[in-house]
Amino acid sequence: MECVEYKGYRFPATTVKDLEFAENELQVLDDDVFNVTYPKSGTTWMIEILSLIHSNGDPTWSQEVPNWDRVPWIEVQGTEEKLKKIQDRRRYFSSHLPRQFFCKSFTNSKAKVIYTARHPKDVAVSFYHFSKINKLFEYPENFDLFLKNFLSGNLPYGSWFDHVKGWLELAGKDNFLFNTYEDLQKDLRGSLKRICTFIGKELDEAALDAVMENVSFKTMKDNRMANFSLVPERIMDLTKGQFMRKGISGDWKNHFTVAQSEYFDKVFKEKMADIGVKLPWEEN
Ligand code: A3P
Repeated sequence: MECVEYKGYRFPATTVKDLEFAENELQVLDDDVFNVTYPKSGTTWMIEILSLIHSNGDPTWSQEVPNWDRVPWIEVQGTEEKLKKIQDRRRYFSSHLPRQFFCKSFTNSKAKVIYTARHPKDVAVSFYHFSKINKLFEYPENFDLFLKNFLSGNLPYGSWFDHVKGWLELAGKDNFLFNTYEDLQKDLRGSLKRICTFIGKELDEAALDAVMENVSFKTMKDNRMANFSLVPERIMDLTKGQFMRKGISGDWKNHFTVAQSEYFDKVFKEKMADIGVKLPWEEN
């Protein structure tokens, strides 16, 4: 299966019909929560966080049901059918869609979006390694070429810069929470509390402890329902690497040359100049 072209972008594991469904037909409910990210920014981590918050820290759901059924991606093949099955609980969804292709019915709803962004240099590194194991993506010849594609937006889901800019237009709205991968790393408990408040869910300290434990990198790495080891080999080749790779911030320093890093900073400054929001990674 290859990526599909949709309005000038490439998307994996889907069809034009499924993308049209997500954009035009999916009826968002006011109670829905969306986990929105550019790929490799902490999507899977947030799936686990939302699942564990939903179950008050009880890991049963996370241990028995694959993450793509707990917090399904709305833009992939088969979403319409999957949605029909979620009836007796609050709905949580994931999406990598750029803002302009996101469900039209979201605009006038009270549904909530948690947008998680990550230091773009770490996103590039994680995406590079992920492209080696994900057969739906072009195999990256080397990091330098991959970086060029990252900076020009020539990758599935398009440009990181456009994605972040598009979604940050919602900053300040009551139903939009901007979160970063680095926040989760630095202060997981504080982040969990912020997310609980945002989605209107109260957890006591013991439940928070349980969430913390079950969303840790170590626990998730060993959880087959979270580490993508159930994905068929024709899609993911886990002999070439792991989905739960390193789970750290700053790994870009092990990959970028000084010249690559300086050029990246230059592009970042140009592309993010008009954003109007101070991003946490501007100084490094
Ligand atoms: P690395 O490749 O840098 O290790 P996504 O889910 O958006 O595809 O992002 C995947 C990245 O998030 C991978 O980064 C993965 O290891 C990391 N990740 C997933 N769960 C994590 C956790 N519990 N703690 C820290 N990092 C996590």
